[in-house]
Amino acid sequence: MRPAVERANNMDEKRKVMLSGIQPSGDLTLGSYLGAIKTWAERAEQFDCYYFMADLHSLTSRQVPADLRRRTLEQMAQYVACGLDPDKNTLFIQSHVPAHAELGWILNCYTMFGELSRMTQFKEKSAKNADNVNGGLFTYPALMAADILLYQPDYVPVGGDQKQHVELTRDVAHRFNGIYGDVFKIPEPYIPKVGARVMDLLEPTKKMSKSDKTGNGRVCLMDDPADIMRKFKRAVTDSDTGENCVRYDPENKPGVANLMQIYASCTGRDYDQITAEFAGHGYGDFKAAVGEAVVETLRPIREESQRLIKDKAYLEDLCRTGAEKASYVANKTLRKVRKKVGLVAMP
Ligand code: TYM
Repeated sequence: MRPAVERANNMDEKRKVMLSGIQPSGDLTLGSYLGAIKTWAERAEQFDCYYFMADLHSLTSRQVPADLRRRTLEQMAQYVACGLDPDKNTLFIQSHVPAHAELGWILNCYTMFGELSRMTQFKEKSAKNADNVNGGLFTYPALMAADILLYQPDYVPVGGDQKQHVELTRDVAHRFNGIYGDVFKIPEPYIPKVGARVMDLLEPTKKMSKSDKTGNGRVCLMDDPADIMRKFKRAVTDSDTGENCVRYDPENKPGVANLMQIYASCTGRDYDQITAEFAGHGYGDFKAAVGEAVVETLRPIREESQRLIKDKAYLEDLCRTGAEKASYVANKTLRKVRKKVGLVAMP
């Protein structure tokens, strides 16, 4: 197969484009993996793919600079370890492609205050961090729209919590195209059927989050097997002791439904098969089986990440080539946008 950049350069060839990103604002979790990266890796052969570390987005909450730098590079290693071959996917750090910040500003001017005010994630994050409700947190979806629209993707594979932002991106793109003609392709969110919303193991009505400080409700990609098993053993279920206590009922049995979702995503089994498999078993057996399935899913990823993280020169080389490939495509869209809105080209 030809390298991604060569294919990307020839946009006439009707290969579909996929793009997504993750903020390096915390260590990647099982939620980041099952909700997003797993879908990316499964589709890598089919599409021209762009995946980035959304480091500029991470600045919307206060970061320890050295930790942010470390996590950004670790995330690059984890992308590769999750199966994203850098020769077939364009992997890059968002801030290495200045076109994101520039188009982000321009799109801010085409995104309405009312639209931004309605974003669920803004409401949740500003309630949680009342002492740091900054402008970036509010206008974040315009930067996300820029991240996406620069690459003219067909699909944006994300977990359920990001769907609203992708829908806003579509609205902004429609608005812009309505004024200036067909500048942007209108992308579609691509949400996995299973794994779209992995919940906290201790509070199963709350999303598993990489920025949570408490460690026991979330499983990280780099957790060792003993830790993973311990976390699943302590996972919250319910007091049902019936023959078929392992059954999918997210309304009434959120803890069990979450574990079933995780098990289904790691093993490829459906919910009926899982209920049949654990008929007559209690939650102890079920939780141990889910823990083992997760351990086996994450083991190769953890081992390969640990190996790659030590190879700084390799990671830096990936960052450089990824940013070059991404910039080529992003700058093409940005030039078009600048011209349309009336900015003078640099002589
Ligand atoms: P972020 O960094 O919060 O999450 C990264 C991706 O992981 C998914 N995800 C989950 N899926 C299922 N269950 C969970 N518990 C879970 N936690 C996270 C998210 O849905 C997401 O797909 N704004 C984005 C990053 C971003 C982006 C973009 C994404 C910036 N620009 C452009 C797509 C395209 C974010 O904060 O995701």
